[in-house]
Amino acid sequence: MNPPTPSGRDASSEATAATSARRSQLSADWLVQAARLEAMLDPVDEPLLAAAALCPGEAVVDIGCGRGPTARRAAATVGALGRVMGVDVGEGVIDAARAIASVPEAAPLRWIAADAAALQLDEQVDVVTASLSSPGRRGSYQRSIVATSFRWLGAPVAVPSVHRRPVAT
Ligand SMILES: C[S@@+](CC[C@H](N)C(=O)[O-])C[C@H]1O[C@@H](n2cnc3c(N)ncnc32)[C@H](O)[C@@H]1O
Repeated sequence: MNPPTPSGRDASSEATAATSARRSQLSADWLVQAARLEAMLDPVDEPLLAAAALCPGEAVVDIGCGRGPTARRAAATVGALGRVMGVDVGEGVIDAARAIASVPEAAPLRWIAADAAALQLDEQVDVVTASLSSPGRRGSYQRSIVATSFRWLGAPVAVPSVHRRPVAT
């Protein structure tokens, strides 16, 4: 057992609380400038979704979905028979994503506030997308996305931001 820190919590609880506080702050910072940042990232979605080559009826997870621009575009492409989940560690951005109305003919959207690296999916997915990370955290964030996609899809991945379940032979 770890010795208690000055706050009375053990070191591991302290680290978890610090990570959670940092993520909440990042999420709040993102929300303040969300419209401007989403406009900046907008051009990334076209090649990302072209590479994903989504088909009607597919199930998609978007990691680090923010307020959900990529997830919403994916939902329009896979249509009402598909499913789309947006996952983000920031509870604030997930609340903001939930508050935005969805399009009737699009796939139902499910918003999950969680660390994708630790999230167990309770359903099969076909494609995992992740639209962008901030440059300072690129290495570890991208590695976490690749590892998570591998866990969810059971497939080795070549492209860091779009991962597709292999066709069964
Ligand atoms: C650069 S923002 C992109 C937001 C969104 N994809 C967009 O295009 O507007 C990256 C997002 O990834 C989220 N994020 C970072 N690490 C994560 C993780 N391990 N699991 C889930 N989301 C994560 C952050 O909270 C942040 O909202």
